[in-house]
Amino acid sequence: MLGIRRAAAALLPLRARAPAAAMSTLLVSQPRYAWLRELGLQEENPGVYNGRWGGGGQVRAAARPVGGNRALGRGAAGLGGASLEDYEETVKKAKEAWKVWADIPAPKRGEIVRQIGDALRQKIKVLGSLVSLEMGKIFVEGVGEVQEYVDVCDYAVGLSRMIGGPILPSERPGHALLEQWNPVGLVGIITAFNFPVAVYGWNSAIAMICGNACLWKGAPTTSLISVAVTKIIAKVLEDNKVPGAICSLVCGGADIGTAMARDERMDLLSFTGSTKVGKEVALMVQERFGRSLLELGGNNAIIVFEDADLNLVIPSALFAAVGTAGQRCTTARRLFLHESIHDEVVAKLANAYAQVRIGDPWDSDTLYGPLHTKAAVKMFLDAVEQAKQQGGSVVYGGKVINRPGNYVEPTIVTGLPHSAPIVHTETFAPILYVLKFKEEEEVFAWNNEVKQGLSSSIFTKDLGRIFRWLGPKGSDCGIVNVNIPTSGAEIGGAFGGEKHTGGGRESGSDSWKLYMRRSTCTINYSKDLPLAQGIKFQ
Ligand code: UN1
Repeated sequence: MLGIRRAAAALLPLRARAPAAAMSTLLVSQPRYAWLRELGLQEENPGVYNGRWGGGGQVRAAARPVGGNRALGRGAAGLGGASLEDYEETVKKAKEAWKVWADIPAPKRGEIVRQIGDALRQKIKVLGSLVSLEMGKIFVEGVGEVQEYVDVCDYAVGLSRMIGGPILPSERPGHALLEQWNPVGLVGIITAFNFPVAVYGWNSAIAMICGNACLWKGAPTTSLISVAVTKIIAKVLEDNKVPGAICSLVCGGADIGTAMARDERMDLLSFTGSTKVGKEVALMVQERFGRSLLELGGNNAIIVFEDADLNLVIPSALFAAVGTAGQRCTTARRLFLHESIHDEVVAKLANAYAQVRIGDPWDSDTLYGPLHTKAAVKMFLDAVEQAKQQGGSVVYGGKVINRPGNYVEPTIVTGLPHSAPIVHTETFAPILYVLKFKEEEEVFAWNNEVKQGLSSSIFTKDLGRIFRWLGPKGSDCGIVNVNIPTSGAEIGGAFGGEKHTGGGRESGSDSWKLYMRRSTCTINYSKDLPLAQGIKFQ
């Protein structure tokens, strides 16, 4: 994924920047897009922050928004990326900044994270608009993911007065046995295009209250968002007179990502993206016995039993499959319907698909916008073709929409066997495979038979079935829902999944532990030296 994105970013050497006259077509210079300046964006934006802004490596001729008709073909603003020298300098500064940050008491770090949350609240609409412009998701979803960052800041503030280890009973007299949690040091955070704000928020807010410095590399195609978010954070850090490098930024491509994965100074590397790239990252980190936290692909299923409330099922399946144009890692890709209700649900769902208002993601009544890149359109078409070849029938959609932008029809495919290779493949596009089942046991097994293990939902009123679903022979995913969609998780729970999803957990619950190292401490406050296990060594 990193490679593709980088190629798409049309990197030019700094010296080959477009002349000023050509730059005037940038959206940031047009009155209609003047709001971009409220985020501190200019015609050219340095993409490196380590206490001061810089980035001498490369500059993207233009960040090309994919939003809708009016934004097409125009760059929003120029963006300077990080060279390996910039990266090197930034790691050093982040390590220095950590020395200051680690000495600040956790509740005081929490207070600074609280201020970051408040600063995001002030800019929530304008930042949500930028997410919509650069990523292409609809405005309410853009605002929604800034809200996730705000929420996780609030959560982290509370945590900053709660985290800690137990004091355990020692078997030796005059001895105390306790757990001490310390920050790991520097946390590298590599995020994907689809949630260019929230995923950084989950990682950085928690990592910060734990006492870590952060170094962020967002997706190259959403770099203006990374810059805008970092400007908001940098102001809070600078106002509090702590080093800005606590939240460093390096905009760049695969070369920077690889450097981070191989770098022993990266005490934890949190990576969100495809399973394919995640595996490369995991192996590079493991090779140096480093720590990684992986949020990789999903292949999420909704299972609808014969007793389900269809008034919940239809809007849930619609939101989970069509929301964010199928580009969430939690998007529902498989819909298992009990054979007795299969035809009825397919008909109702197709009817709901027909009501979806497709358009410019900024228009308030649009529900469905474009895909992020042209490459995604190709992946969509390839997957539809493969689904047909493997025996599927396209009962809704299946084609590119004839309008400017990367628009494809939200698509429903029926008739495939549960084991069809395409059903086992995560295609990051709005294609829903609808499959028929007879028995609970078989469908729970089908839910679990794919390599990925992120999210899953059943719709039923049967209490016994609900608890079997949550239990050892139920869903093997990290997120296991009942009567709600697979997507749209709250920040208070731990977010992540099993198997090829990578095993990481971010955001709520006790995910903070992954950003810290645990010391088991035994303190002898007596004058004797009894050994554990009753050993007498004399
Ligand atoms: C992602 O797609 O990477 O649960 C994150 C959800 C959102 C987060 C998705 N809260 O759908």
